[in-house]
Amino acid sequence: MTTNDNYIELLLARMTLREKVGQMTQVSGATEDHLALVKKGLVGSLLNVVDPVLVNEYQRASVEETRLGIPLLVGRDVIHGFRTIFPIPLGLAASWNLPLVEKAARVAAREASAVGVRWTFSPMVDICRDPRWGRIAEGAGEDPVLSGAIGAAMVRGYQGKDLANPESIAACAKHFVAYGATEGGRDYNTSDMSERTLRDVYLPPFKACVDVGVSTLMCGFNDLAGVPASGNAFTLRQVLRSEWKFNGFVVSDWASIGEMVIHGFCADKREAAREAALAGVDMDMMSACYLEHMESLVASGEVPLALVDASVRAILGLKYRLGLFERAQVDLSRVSEELEWESLEAARHLARESCVLLKNEGNLLPLKEDVASVAVIGPLSDSPVDQMGCWTVDGRAADVCTPLAAIRQMVSPGTRVRYVRALPEACSGETDEFDAAVRAAEASDVAILFLGESEKLTGESHCRAFLDLSGAQQALLERICETGKPVVVVLMTGRPLTIPWAVAHVPALLLAWHPGTMGGPAIADLLFGKHSPSGKLPVSIPRSVGQIPLYYNHKNTGRPAIDSVRKMPLGTPADPVGFCSSYLDAEPTPEFPFGFGLSYTSFEYSLPKVVVQGSSIRISADITNTGNRTAGEVAQLYVRDVVASVTRPVKELKGFQRVDLAAGQTKTVAFTLCPDDLAFHGRDCRLRVEPGDFQVWIAGNSQAGEAAGFTLRESMI
Ligand code: GLC
Repeated sequence: MTTNDNYIELLLARMTLREKVGQMTQVSGATEDHLALVKKGLVGSLLNVVDPVLVNEYQRASVEETRLGIPLLVGRDVIHGFRTIFPIPLGLAASWNLPLVEKAARVAAREASAVGVRWTFSPMVDICRDPRWGRIAEGAGEDPVLSGAIGAAMVRGYQGKDLANPESIAACAKHFVAYGATEGGRDYNTSDMSERTLRDVYLPPFKACVDVGVSTLMCGFNDLAGVPASGNAFTLRQVLRSEWKFNGFVVSDWASIGEMVIHGFCADKREAAREAALAGVDMDMMSACYLEHMESLVASGEVPLALVDASVRAILGLKYRLGLFERAQVDLSRVSEELEWESLEAARHLARESCVLLKNEGNLLPLKEDVASVAVIGPLSDSPVDQMGCWTVDGRAADVCTPLAAIRQMVSPGTRVRYVRALPEACSGETDEFDAAVRAAEASDVAILFLGESEKLTGESHCRAFLDLSGAQQALLERICETGKPVVVVLMTGRPLTIPWAVAHVPALLLAWHPGTMGGPAIADLLFGKHSPSGKLPVSIPRSVGQIPLYYNHKNTGRPAIDSVRKMPLGTPADPVGFCSSYLDAEPTPEFPFGFGLSYTSFEYSLPKVVVQGSSIRISADITNTGNRTAGEVAQLYVRDVVASVTRPVKELKGFQRVDLAAGQTKTVAFTLCPDDLAFHGRDCRLRVEPGDFQVWIAGNSQAGEAAGFTLRESMI
């Protein structure tokens, strides 16, 4: 038994049942009631207290005024930065840059731990195929491999190499599980799917986080196939503990244990406490079900004391590994009002690499710094709060450098910058300033229009039935385009939007998501060519909301959409040829596919070369920068299992590599797969590898590239 275990066991043996239940209780905010509970030893964790002096007061009360002196675990939603705000997680994912994402999480951990926060409720790794769901902003998109890689990088960044390092914070993979499959894209709604889809698509990103040692998980609000995530023994005990051997702890979502009564799954809070404890939820966030009922549940034998001990052991173990028993007080000398230069530079770098160039007709971009005049139009060009995006509870507008400010700094002294807000905010319908905006565009060499979403339309419980540009933005766009001036649109948004008119009429489209504190300089760097865009979509962009759910790794069906029908003019009645999986009034394909993103240069990929040696499958391709400037490209490896015992996706991402190439330079990218990389869950929902033919692509997005192939033989498995 290690010192850690021994220490915990000795402490556990001294605890009363009530004190144990206290450790399983989390409360939010610094109130007199909460301080009183702390002093009774009835609070294990505190969230949403970020004043270091207050944190120290609560830690002192917990350590010095309780019988056993157990420190508190202070948690916070540090979702994409603490004070230095990075792009929203969907933007982080668009960078496909794992070292940079890890660095961003480390900056967040350093800043959050300085005020006493030692646990974040991040990364969110909910797969989402439905941009109507406001929380698509918080995740890493539609693909299990990319989401798992991004989530694991964030866990490594938050937790560092040593949790006891005062700058490390415990991570929390959430929301376990399938919360992102919420029906209708409406938050908190039902998720319902086959176990095979759950295991092939929604569980893998959580497994990736468990595999890198994530300390905690948070269960979701949703019911999954009729069983709420907060009372789901299949996911929490069978999958998470028995199959994955997870030894951290699970915290409920906000009051989600008590909400099982509202779900109609439990008759009252006592039953909810019982179901959650038996299912494997170790800590109760804000429902007080455990505090109110656990003692009686144990006394009656409905909840074995051993389960309570297992929960408390896991909670105390994390506190021990964080070094909180040694040092619960935060060192106030670490608190700084100033953001560190390297943190801001990391935020600028990551914001730059998260931007996705969707269109650049006639190479309108990059602009020249000495352009004579530029019109900057739209409220999102100078809106710090919107620019930071959702879940930036500790970000400060005063820290933000907006695109307007950055463009003014970047252009040459002789450049005339004409700024017209044009709308009070992105979702406003007021058109009073449109004439001024038109005049500014007419008087300028180029108009840069910032469109998209107000931050308040994104994130938790902010779901939309329509994904068009909100308010009068479309009308503004058309008025500016009518001037005939070159127009660049920069989209600042928390989700994919349906922008068919812009795609058809605007020569240059740059998707910047909500890019965070340094989003302005990052966008200016790209607009004026200091760097080339390299971001790639982590999620498909639909043509219309009617296509949803829309994702690249779909099944082939028995009647896949065929080109002749796909390209059929809108409204044409389907002729007998049209008996295929398509629409009469829209193309079935995305506006922009998963993995897509342009550059200021161009890249050419050779046909993949496959070399099978024993059980190792090496797939490589040459990539050439065929343009005239250095740039980065994210090469993606896709695989298709052509025939299997269950239907398989037409493509699955199996790997990706960023490669930087000078003009004219060629590099070889190579990936090595083993049979296990081709595994899936068969008819019995057990993981299996089947021999057979496979197609492979190495390309710049999920719809590009020529296929090569190989045969997986029985002898290789
Ligand atoms: C919220 C969210 C969850 C967050 C928690 C604490 O409702 O669902 O993601 O971590 O409550 O703020």
